[in-house]
Amino acid sequence: MEDYSRHVFICTSTTCAEGDPFALRLKMHQLLRDKLGDEYEKKVKLTKTLCLAQCGLGPNMVVYPEGVWYYGVKLRDIPEIVEQHLLGGKPVERLILHHLGQGPRKPAESA
Ligand code: FES
Repeated sequence: MEDYSRHVFICTSTTCAEGDPFALRLKMHQLLRDKLGDEYEKKVKLTKTLCLAQCGLGPNMVVYPEGVWYYGVKLRDIPEIVEQHLLGGKPVERLILHHLGQGPRKPAESA
């Protein structure tokens, strides 16, 4: 087993709000491969998952070990998530729905 530094669970259920979660995953894969080479899969694990129970807010994804839940992720957000969080270790605050141990951030806070 690899010693991953980050594990991303991407909801790929077809009912996950609007958007194309498969395109999100593909873009993330391409950017990680561009940045880290073909060995990136030893550092970052991308996993397609079923419903994360936040369907209306999707597309959704969760990044561990931080336990950061992102919501409403668009294709244009992927480079920022990759650069800032997956490679840089700093979550993208504006997309956080919930941060484990720190509670929910949105959409309740912005309502
Ligand atoms: S279908 Fe994606 S969170 Fe439910």
